[in-house]
Amino acid sequence: MKVGVFDSGAGGRHVADSIKKAMPELEVVYKEDRDHVPYGVRSIEEIHGFVKPIFQEFVGEGCRVVVVACNTVTTNLIQELREEFKVPLVGVEPMIKPAATATKTGVICVCATPRTLQSARYQELKVLYAQGIEVLEPDCGDWALMVETNQVDRNHIKTIIDDACAKGADQIVLGCTHYHWIEEMINQLSAGRAEVIQPEPAVIRQLARVISTL
Ligand code: DGL
Repeated sequence: MKVGVFDSGAGGRHVADSIKKAMPELEVVYKEDRDHVPYGVRSIEEIHGFVKPIFQEFVGEGCRVVVVACNTVTTNLIQELREEFKVPLVGVEPMIKPAATATKTGVICVCATPRTLQSARYQELKVLYAQGIEVLEPDCGDWALMVETNQVDRNHIKTIIDDACAKGADQIVLGCTHYHWIEEMINQLSAGRAEVIQPEPAVIRQLARVISTL
């Protein structure tokens, strides 16, 4: 079965690799938008215009499911995309619920793009699952580009992670798939102080569920 995986850039490639490893029987079609990455600092209208033709290609090429391996697109546009394209979409959004459930300190840190943090869906996730939890949202506005261009400034990441841990965060949510490439670095920087959560296992479970209904 053909399954599409989309992201603005390198983040979705990480997700696609995990899907291929977990479900080698699938034919994974990966598409990214190299001309317009990073999305996280763009307007919703602009992003919508970029993704529509790409989703059209997925449908045209016979993908039976599309994984929206981008928190920025999922949190801002998945409803519109579901209405526009009659193909099941599996979204990726910040894992507030597991982080809020697991925290012992009552403080969690969400690393995500500015556009994700500003989305109505993200605000809704906090209302639904993080009542009474302090949610730190450090400025990670340049992280996606650092990963995309392979110029990750470890000291810059360290400053943000140290600050979050010093403020008591014991759960760090990777709310942008680009950051999956620096998960190991963030793990090292927060070792013994915080756990790092990312959504790939949950995405694979959800994809398997959706496929089983087709
Ligand atoms: N990887 C994407 C996400 O999960 C978007 C990064 C970007 O293009 O800014 O949000």
